[in-house]
Amino acid sequence: MVFNDTMTRLIAFVNRKGGSGKTTTAVHVSAGLADLDCRVLLVDVDPQAHASLWFGLSCREKLDQGLYRLLQGKENSPLSLVKKTGVNNLDLLPGGFGLTEYEAENSHKRGAVYDLARLIAPFFNHYDYLVFDTPPTVGLLMVSVLTATRWIIIPLPMQFLAMEGLAEMVRLLYKINASGNKGLRLKGIIPVMHDKRLKISANIKKEIIKVFGDKILLPAIRPTVKLAEAPSFQQTIFDYAPACTAALDYRRLVKKIKELNGTGENSGDRGK
Ligand SMILES: Nc1ncnc2c1ncn2[C@@H]1O[C@H](COP(=O)(O)OP(=O)(O)OP(=O)(O)O)[C@@H](O)[C@H]1O
Ligand SMILES: [Mg+2]
Repeated sequence: MVFNDTMTRLIAFVNRKGGSGKTTTAVHVSAGLADLDCRVLLVDVDPQAHASLWFGLSCREKLDQGLYRLLQGKENSPLSLVKKTGVNNLDLLPGGFGLTEYEAENSHKRGAVYDLARLIAPFFNHYDYLVFDTPPTVGLLMVSVLTATRWIIIPLPMQFLAMEGLAEMVRLLYKINASGNKGLRLKGIIPVMHDKRLKISANIKKEIIKVFGDKILLPAIRPTVKLAEAPSFQQTIFDYAPACTAALDYRRLVKKIKELNGTGENSGDRGK
């Protein structure tokens, strides 16, 4: 079932491995696209609310007035739930702890996986991109995102056990592809914390190319502690350390993602 008939691009950053760079990448791809004059809504689908915290939202009541409120299906003006981030063209639909309650209460509800896809439709006229940051667990929230989005992109740390869980992720993608979201495509894998001097980085990249082909690899993000520091200042790396390697890498990645379209072997999308 496909709900998005507009030109809005939907991109979810997913990896069921915790701490794999999903939030960092969702924040910087969103901010980078916004800087290229695209209107972007970052949808924080994580009870941990790390993307929301990055932009300074921490109060539980305020967080619950975001995606949690939308998922309750009673909001007459969904746009009023959107918050400014301080970055031009980039808005945020906050996540937060309420999402844990949503998941617990609705996991067994028939058709619940379609709620998100249906409820985000009012945003399509207002944004060029909806970017989803996702939790590290395969539950209702993750499956809802996979049902709602068109593209998934996997940030993959170039570390021991990196490939662990990747096969499971891809199986889940195919399952949802077959059952509920025919337009869903794996659009790329991003090597993150990538040090090309290390043998392990080269080995993991080789393994990815063997399994998925070389078109799947998107520009890599090199490791830097600056990425861990930036959220404490509620800044993106583009503001906090614009000359650092990660800022340059994320700019290159954003340019590539903007160029991705519906043609090519990993796609099948209509539209752009
Ligand atoms: N390229 C990088 N270089 C160095 N550190 C990085 C890089 N990318 C992310 N990190 C750091 O790794 C940690 C985990 O990143 P992040 O929070 O983005 O992962 P996540 O997948 O969203 O985690 P979770 O599964 O808990 O949501 C953070 O401290 C972040 O600053
Ligand atoms: Mg995260």
